[in-house]
Amino acid sequence: MTAKPDTPARIIRLAEYTPPSYAIDSVHLRFDLDPAKTRVHSRMAVRRLEGAAESAPLVLDGEDITLLTLKVNGEFVAFRQDGNTLVLDKLPETFTLEIETLNVPQANTQLAGLYMSGGAFFTQCEAEGFRRITYWPDRPDVMSRFHVTLRADKAQYPVLLSNGNLVSQTDLDGGRHEAVWDDPFPKPCYLFALVGGNLVCREQTVRAASGKTHLLQVYVRAGDLDKTEHAMESLIKAIAWDEQRFGLSLDLDRFMIVAVSDFNMGAMENKGLNIFNTKYVLANPATATDADYDGIESVVGHEYFHNWTGDRITCRDWFQLSLKEGLTVFRDQEFSQDLAAASGGESARAVKRIEDVRVLRTAQFSEDAGPMAHPVRPEQYQAIDNFYTATVYEKGAEVVRMMQTLVGRAGFRKGMDLYFQRFDGQAVTCDDFAQSMADANPDSALAQHLAAFKRWYSQAGTPRLHASGALDTAARTYTLTLRQTLPDTPVQTGKQPQVIPVATGLLDARGNALPLWLQGQDKGTSTVLVLTEDQQTFVFEQIDAHAVTPSLLRGFSAPVILDYAYTDAELLHLLAHDADPFNRWEAAQRLTLSRLLAAVRGEALNLDAPYLDALRAVLRDPKLDPAFKELLLTPPGEAYIAEQLEEVDPPRIHRARQALRTVLARELAQDWQTLWDTLTPEGGYSPDFASAGRRALRNLAQAHLCELGQATWLGRVYQRVKDADNMTDRFAALAALVHVGADLTKPALERFAAQFAGEALVMDKWFALQASAPDHDGQQLDRVRALMRHPAFSIHSPNRARSVLFAYCQANPGAFHRADGAGYAFWAEQVQALDAINPQVAARLARALDRWRKLAPAYREAAQQALRTVAESATLSSDTREIIERALA
Ligand code: PHE
Ligand code: ZN
Repeated sequence: MTAKPDTPARIIRLAEYTPPSYAIDSVHLRFDLDPAKTRVHSRMAVRRLEGAAESAPLVLDGEDITLLTLKVNGEFVAFRQDGNTLVLDKLPETFTLEIETLNVPQANTQLAGLYMSGGAFFTQCEAEGFRRITYWPDRPDVMSRFHVTLRADKAQYPVLLSNGNLVSQTDLDGGRHEAVWDDPFPKPCYLFALVGGNLVCREQTVRAASGKTHLLQVYVRAGDLDKTEHAMESLIKAIAWDEQRFGLSLDLDRFMIVAVSDFNMGAMENKGLNIFNTKYVLANPATATDADYDGIESVVGHEYFHNWTGDRITCRDWFQLSLKEGLTVFRDQEFSQDLAAASGGESARAVKRIEDVRVLRTAQFSEDAGPMAHPVRPEQYQAIDNFYTATVYEKGAEVVRMMQTLVGRAGFRKGMDLYFQRFDGQAVTCDDFAQSMADANPDSALAQHLAAFKRWYSQAGTPRLHASGALDTAARTYTLTLRQTLPDTPVQTGKQPQVIPVATGLLDARGNALPLWLQGQDKGTSTVLVLTEDQQTFVFEQIDAHAVTPSLLRGFSAPVILDYAYTDAELLHLLAHDADPFNRWEAAQRLTLSRLLAAVRGEALNLDAPYLDALRAVLRDPKLDPAFKELLLTPPGEAYIAEQLEEVDPPRIHRARQALRTVLARELAQDWQTLWDTLTPEGGYSPDFASAGRRALRNLAQAHLCELGQATWLGRVYQRVKDADNMTDRFAALAALVHVGADLTKPALERFAAQFAGEALVMDKWFALQASAPDHDGQQLDRVRALMRHPAFSIHSPNRARSVLFAYCQANPGAFHRADGAGYAFWAEQVQALDAINPQVAARLARALDRWRKLAPAYREAAQQALRTVAESATLSSDTREIIERALA
């Protein structure tokens, strides 16, 4: 009997949640690993739960596997099979259930369940992969103690890993061996993992602040051991940080990270056995960029932090996904901020915040405005894999951050403590978390407005915050009026006001911070106004100023779109003087955006002296971090610009942004040159905050200098591709050449490919760089097709597929959107090809056309045509179908 993967589209609803009828208190799993036929034997101790009817059936999920045997208390019994579920009736109150299944790991191209990569076995069970291994109630509220035996050929698979503690390792007959693992913590099946293969590890014993010692291991393929130091260091820092900031210690003797090159996502927090995409583990100065180093630090932190927020306390159901993801993203953001601040001072914290907000506003705001808009706690889905989104992750993190803003850092810690006190070892809901925060801080604005605050979980869409101010010099007051609106989104209309914390300061005409008095209370120079109604006014008293410039939403205190009719003069004032570095950056972004939008509308791009002078002043300010300058001088991205428009012509946006860069290159040439000359490296490569910031700014200067097209510069940059002593600088040089399309680009690319042919992650960059190159000559799509014919291209490898297909269809709007629709036809082809191999990855590529309705007519019609083509294909997975149906709805 083989269960078929393609069940008809079924909608799962939060409102229909019912608790499970049976618990599986413990399970013994035995795997006889074999690429073509892996036998999985499972022996479960099952118990009917209190409150369940005696007649309650036990429902097990199973997908794409062959059932060999099923026994209840040692006897074969009858069962019903219905699509991908198997139902058992007439069960005793407690019993032993034994099931044996057959898996074919070598045929598993979806990379969910048990699969092979580079000749080794790996599992991926979140969200619903365990059912592709054995029959099981595959839902996170069934938590069990796992005892696991792994058997495999010893020569081919010398390393056999699973969750928890290693109990024994024994040699068996026929060249096979066996490892037994026991995880002392009950967990849902989505946190189960195994690895079997020929791997090596870097290991280190650490003594935690608690006094306990732990064995830390990072497993990789034999040639990659020299790229594991940064991941190990990041793990050690994460362990120390969670103890220090949240009092949370590592609860296992052994903690393992395993790198795999074929992986659908970034990484996975399986208990004690995190499995990572190689992209987030492997780094050395010769192969990884500063951005890679950063990504590793934050993802290693993220997965480690899940050990408490995700594993010890997990989700009751998948609608609660943000309970663990939003909270854990918040925690990894705080981790990165604290580490940056420790080495780069407080301004480094702002740099990290700006980077996070940029991601949020590009990816999440557009999601919230499109066909996939959903609340942080979604209400329905067809394929849960489609809801690992920027909304659940990044907006979810903002919701947690707002709680911290409302209760303070110390109050937040109290709320976390209470959350663990109440729910450790359980599968719970977003409501449980919010309630803990409120109960631990009974006098806070959060507790006072909890019900309204929780609308952040239930209402989709990005709120707009409309602000206006009025100065009354006679009364010495400044009245700030805040009003909020929340747009309708698919299936949600008529929304209620949310609770919006608005961190605010006021500047006088000289740029000094005004003391803030509200209702007779001294609020210092920065305060958090809490908007809870549709509209409220806040009257600042004792204002002695002839002009007031409000600095609103400091640090981006809420995930909203701020509408305030700032004049250029006010923005220049904020850019020069605001005490809040985030808002200085934001002022520059607004100034740049308005100039870009004028150019998109067709006005001549005319960068005025005050604007250019302000940018120059920033570049010349010795007190500002290079990393901050780099962010400030980087114009808003094309996708973000597109979101500001009613109707979008992507190539036109690209041209406007490109024109702006060219003018900035010319007008600031002197400064770029000075930066290039002065930001020379100090000593050998180190990925620390300060060094990375200097490299980032120097490489931005280099990119602008290349824009000017001078042969000397292009020659110099080509030389850097040859002899840079680290990948950050080497790749920046290559990118500068590719971007301008200079004659030297071809030899530079060839040289680079020859040098790094054996480094898959570097080759991913090489592919991505070319696929995201501007379309100088109308031939870009042909070049993308040529990249797919390159012997090193494989659509089966998610990283490689992403490096070409996503880089073109998603990250290169100026080239992908073509009035002749050829880009869309290519997209349709690739979505269908990928869907037959890996639906999760295909469904992500499908989202490249999310915003098709916003496109200018010529593009729109062609895009709709391409969507229809995909919709009509007979064999679409439920993952991809859900995305396409929503887009066309
Ligand atoms: N839970 C993982 C994380 O956020 C993401 C993931 C989801 C990985 C589904 C694999 C599959 O850290
Ligand atoms: Zn996560």
